[in-house]
Amino acid sequence: MATQFVIDGLKAAIEGKEILKGINLEIKGGEIHAIMGPNGTGKSTLASALMGHPKYEVTEGTAVLNGEDLLEMGVDERARAGLFLAMQYPSEIPGVTNSDFLRSAINARREEGNEISLIKFIRQMEGKMKELEMNPEFAHRYLNEGFSGGEKKRNEILQMTLLDPKIVVLDEIDSGLDIDALKIVSNGVNAMRSEDRGFLIITHYQRLLNYITPDFVHVMMQGRIVKSGGPELAQRLENEGYDWVKEELGIVDETVGQA
Ligand SMILES: Nc1ncnc2c1ncn2[C@@H]1O[C@H](COP(=O)(O)OP(=O)(O)OP(=O)(O)O)[C@@H](O)[C@H]1O
Ligand SMILES: [Mg+2]
Repeated sequence: MATQFVIDGLKAAIEGKEILKGINLEIKGGEIHAIMGPNGTGKSTLASALMGHPKYEVTEGTAVLNGEDLLEMGVDERARAGLFLAMQYPSEIPGVTNSDFLRSAINARREEGNEISLIKFIRQMEGKMKELEMNPEFAHRYLNEGFSGGEKKRNEILQMTLLDPKIVVLDEIDSGLDIDALKIVSNGVNAMRSEDRGFLIITHYQRLLNYITPDFVHVMMQGRIVKSGGPELAQRLENEGYDWVKEELGIVDETVGQA
């Protein structure tokens, strides 16, 4: 079955405050969707709510991946079902090496008794690290501890390529990357494009979309997707900012509205 991911009427709150006010989005296998939007509009909240972060309370809606509602599942189950999230601020896990973490993550998604062999895992990991031009010593360092901003982002892409997910959510994967790393990371993503994998890419800048061409671009404001279009929408936002969207749709700034 070709991958299909449908978010329907998703509402989520943080500490009682509603942040997501009804998100609707459909991502099919092979498609790349980009989400852009001003700071604090709920983009990372969407990513965290999908992944099942305990701080984010889903109050309404569904997120159905190939017939199964992810929102009904635990975090591990969501990963097993094929959801992958590269976080805006990846966590550091002192005491757990990158390679141990990756191997457990792969095995957590396999049936018991069908774990990946150590040799096969190392071969795969080393191959992918080479493609991403990562220093082999990163395999043995503690997960993200002391990694530079860009190194963390590259490491998120390493996880993505090893885990072979069906739905990939990348939250500001371009932030902190140098010019060469941006190309390497984008190539990593492009190499993963396939008919049974869909992407949701959260970004502030059109620049990333020069390397990873999206099929759809969505604008998120105040917890809703307020406008959708093709790559030309990202170009217009880059050139003109968000004011024209607000004007066109009659959106009043919340801070202004509350004053
Ligand atoms: N753990 C939290 N506790 C309290 N408020 C939170 C928490 N997480 C997010 N928020 C609030 O929810 C709103 C949406 O935050 P979110 O991180 O989703 O924004 P964003 O669209 O990703 O912004 P940015 O572009 O700056 O990354 C913000 O007003 C933020 O302050
Ligand atoms: Mg964010």
